[in-house]
This record gives sequence, C-alpha cells and structure tokens, in this order.
Amino acid sequence: MALPKLSPRGRETSIWLLYALGFIPGLWGFYQGATGQIAGDPVRVFEHLLGLWALRFLCLGLAVTPLRDLAGVNLIAWRRALGLLAFWYVLAHFTVYLTLDRGLQFGTILADIAKRPYITLGMAGLLMLVPLAITSNRWSIRRLGSRWNKLHKLVYPILIVSVLHYALSLKSITAEPVFYIVTATVLLGYRLVRTPLMARRRNRRNQTA
Ligand code: HEM
Repeated sequence: MALPKLSPRGRETSIWLLYALGFIPGLWGFYQGATGQIAGDPVRVFEHLLGLWALRFLCLGLAVTPLRDLAGVNLIAWRRALGLLAFWYVLAHFTVYLTLDRGLQFGTILADIAKRPYITLGMAGLLMLVPLAITSNRWSIRRLGSRWNKLHKLVYPILIVSVLHYALSLKSITAEPVFYIVTATVLLGYRLVRTPLMARRRNRRNQTA
C-alpha cells in the first residue's frame, strides 16, 4: 500500500502535526486532573495515562519497520517523532512520580528504585532512552555513522523493560497488559526473523525477474 507522496514541506508539516496530536492525550489528562474532572486518585490516573502513552509511542515507533517490510507502508519520516514522543511521555511520567506521587522525598524515591523491581526496570528504561533522545537529530546521525544504528538498537531492551515494568506494577494481569506483552513480543520477535525473511523474499523476486 503506497502512501501519497508529500513534498519536503508537506512532510515537515505532517511531522509537526504528529507532535501536536501526540501531546494532546497528556495535555488533556493534565487539564482534567487540574480541573477536578478525574474521579478517584487523579495523580495515579494521570501517572498511568502518561506511562501508557509512552508505551504506545514506543510500540508505534517499532512498528514502522515491519509495516514497511510487510505491507509496503513507509512511515520512516515519522519514526523519530514517535520515538521522541515516547521519551517526553516517559519523562513526564517520571516527573509526576517524583513530584505529585512521591512529593520529592528523595529518601523514599531512592529506596523505591533500589527495592521495587518494577521501579528499577522503569528507571533502566528511562536511562536507556536518554542517549537515544539526545542523538535523535541529523547532526548526531552524521557524526556517529554506523555507531548510531548500534546505539539505537537500545530501543529493544527499552521495550522489554517497559513491558516488564508495566506487568510487575499490576496486582493482576488484565487484557490490557496482555495486549502490550503480545504486541512487544511480536515486534521484537519480528527482528529475530527479519534477516532470513527478507533474504528469502529477495531470492524469490530474483528468481521471478
Ligand atoms: C521506559 C520507561 C517507562 C515506561 C514505558 C513506563 C510505563 C508505565 C506503564 C505502562 C504503567 C502502567 C499504567 C497502567 O497501569 O495503566 C506504569 C506505571 C507506573 N510507573 Fe512507569 N514507565 C516507565 C518508567 C518509569 C519510571 C522511571 C518510574 C519511576 C521511577 C515509573 C513509575 C511508575 C509508577 C509509580 C507506576 C504506577 C504503579 C502503581 O500503580 O502502583 N515508571 N509505567
């Protein structure tokens, strides 16, 4: 399935549009929390919303390659924005945890990070995302060359620790975490079979040419 061709200017505009749309759930959640429209524990609800959107953008970013390989849909121009949206959501999620949830009590925060495995995993995910976010620009791609690709493979362990963090944060596993566990398994599993799969496709194409 081929997408309509965009001019460089149209592509640039669509990327900014994606950022604008991508931040809406977070801003809407903040507005609802700040105006008392969230029932129950608004801090927890907002913290969860930010964590879930971070995970969604991570998965969407990792879906770009299989979509291009298997369905011919090329969304590569939007992949960086998806990754950066994931990073900003994780950072916002962490900030809510530090401030509204833990009230900047650094003693309990450090104890949480050291003793609660799901917090340790979340922290590992955030720390691994930092170098990716810092190097998500043309200058770094040019400067790092092939090392840039190697560095950005960190996104795989990031997805693993994110899903584990999510699953371990829950008291019981419902359909929603199962959905993300399956999605992450498919997205990561695809990377394991991608090289032989693409080689087979190339061979078949060469034989029929
Ligand atoms: C790659 C990084 C991260 C991702 C993708 C992520 C994602 C998530 C998700 C999806 C949830 C569950 C939301 C739900 O139940 O609806 C969650 C919960 C949570 N996360 Fe994260 N998170 C990350 C990093 C962190 C970090 C660095 C911290 C703090 C140090 C943190 C603290 C929490 C807390 C406190 C909860 C709520 C647990 C509860 O309800 O008791 N997360 N996160």
